[in-house]
Amino acid sequence: MYLLKPLPFLYQDLEPYIDIHTVGVHYLKHQKNYLIKLNEILEKNHFPFKEPMESIYQNIAFFQEKDRNDLLFFLGGVLNHDLYWQSICPKEKEEPKGKLLKAILKRFGSIDEMKKKWIECALSLKGSGYVFLIKTGDEQVEIITTQNQDNPLLFGYLPLFCIDMWEHAYYLLYKNNKQEYLNQFFELANFSYANKKMESDRKRAFL
Ligand SMILES: [Fe+2]
Repeated sequence: MYLLKPLPFLYQDLEPYIDIHTVGVHYLKHQKNYLIKLNEILEKNHFPFKEPMESIYQNIAFFQEKDRNDLLFFLGGVLNHDLYWQSICPKEKEEPKGKLLKAILKRFGSIDEMKKKWIECALSLKGSGYVFLIKTGDEQVEIITTQNQDNPLLFGYLPLFCIDMWEHAYYLLYKNNKQEYLNQFFELANFSYANKKMESDRKRAFL
């Protein structure tokens, strides 16, 4: 079975922007539950657990058709949260640099314009989902939203950075004030993982 990746910070480390209680419930209840459900489906399908979890997107056709929707939902539920924690990790915070910075400037003109577009996309999202920064080419990035637990790997794109826009991510502290959650998000934003991923050779995730 797959194991829950440890959080890259302590529960209280996101204070005051995201409170300890939200992080605890989010990680130990929500993400853990996605992982339990994912493992159940994989075990039922005699999955060998030899490859990284991401490889399931390439091999979805090997699973029973009736299980595929649930499988993709719970798989995204685990991977999206792993990326979210990396995107708000308060340790060794980095701004976009190198290839990522170049791609952001090419696409959006400036970091501020990228953040503006990020917030616009997040506010336009209906229901539960995510905003992702994705790699679409060697020096190309784009901002997209996905519904529910869809991950950009489902569409062949490498996810670099994300924000969780499910209510469970912010409701305890911000109630329905999404705008404030988004403003505070950039106090935590860490592009260290995104910088590393952008430097990798793959133009797209699996294509
Ligand atoms: Fe979440």
